[in-house]
Amino acid sequence: MLTKEQNALLTLTGPGTAGGDLMRRYWQPVALAREIPAGSAPKPVRILGEDLVLFRGQNGTPGLMGIHCPHRGADLSYGRIEDGGLRCVYHGWLLANDGRCLEQPGESTGSTFKDRVRHTAYPCREAGGLILTYMGPGDPPLLPAFPFLTSPAAQTWCTKLWQECNYLQGSEGNVDPQHLSYLHRFVNPDQLRESHNLVIRDAAPRIDVDETPWGLRLYATRNIGDDEVYVRVTNFIMPNNSAFSAGPPLDPKVQPLPRSSYYKMHWHVPIDDTHHWKYEIAYRLDGPVDPVWLASQYENAENPEAAPLKRRGDNRYLQDRDEQQASSFTGMGRNFNDHDRMATESQGPIYDRTTEHLATTDKGVIAMRKLLLGAIEDVRAGRDPLLVNRDAAHNPLAELVVLEERLPKSTPVREFWREPSGVR
Ligand code: FES
Ligand SMILES: [Fe+2]
Repeated sequence: MLTKEQNALLTLTGPGTAGGDLMRRYWQPVALAREIPAGSAPKPVRILGEDLVLFRGQNGTPGLMGIHCPHRGADLSYGRIEDGGLRCVYHGWLLANDGRCLEQPGESTGSTFKDRVRHTAYPCREAGGLILTYMGPGDPPLLPAFPFLTSPAAQTWCTKLWQECNYLQGSEGNVDPQHLSYLHRFVNPDQLRESHNLVIRDAAPRIDVDETPWGLRLYATRNIGDDEVYVRVTNFIMPNNSAFSAGPPLDPKVQPLPRSSYYKMHWHVPIDDTHHWKYEIAYRLDGPVDPVWLASQYENAENPEAAPLKRRGDNRYLQDRDEQQASSFTGMGRNFNDHDRMATESQGPIYDRTTEHLATTDKGVIAMRKLLLGAIEDVRAGRDPLLVNRDAAHNPLAELVVLEERLPKSTPVREFWREPSGVR
């Protein structure tokens, strides 16, 4: 349970909030790179409660700036990409990617007024199929050394999924391994991945949590036989990201891959306090993924205005009570993302954590909130929070592993990740 004040600290991320100050100390995805192909129009985006315009300049470099022109506020997403920047169509002011005003055609020749105008602008980087931005003060830290950001493009694929609730609700689902035994349960799981059958064999996993240089490593251990356990090693990554074992990155009928040779990340990026994008990233450690097959596994949720999601709160996620008896625990189909969305959106736009009753299996949730509250204090005290890194010789993510393994009961689960049997 949190106090009202703690809940506000963790959930409100707009400009000037303590939680927002924390989020702004990290690089955050602002779009999929494919949303702004070469030659595309400037795109209005909303992130951390700020309305911005994202565009690709003539030289291909992404730019991100306040959507309202610093002159008299016209919407810059109607502007023209030309002459090394974005030109407002109202009076023709030309703005560079870094927020400098390069031209004011209405001013007299020799005017220096333009030199005194500095528009809101945030640095961007393009990597791993994402456009990432740093919206905080001072020099940006290094990009986090996630393998998917640095490995060949063929090894990764990403999408983003619209979520109508506060980001923290989504993020908490990732550090709650027990829900796999219920929310994603199938009455008749024959055709599912082996792991789906394993998680329902023991609905009371033992959960251990280690603090790490990136956040948390969680171990969920389930008894699946007299001398066998099923262990999932997952991660909370500061301040709104996670890495965990999930479906394969290519059709297992075409090429089955070893468990633990691939994983997924869920990066929950606030749009505002009551909506967020769940960036879902598939990564394979040792070979290419199949982007066509991966895309076929998702309902296209990247543009809900053009194509609303099929299952939504206003249609009760199309819950089918007959299906609930015969097939899935939720009665909401086979897509885990739909189950998760129903569970987290139905908590309310911003869940009131003053009324909850945390249980034994909420260890990860408790540890994550503690880390975030501590990091908010760090930022208030002028310190870099956990995982913010400025030393290229140091990689706080060096020991990030994602695993799921069947092991003899005697295996020390907090140690086996150093030498797992699967591919690392
Ligand atoms: S409002 Fe943009 S140039 Fe005047
Ligand atoms: Fe889930």
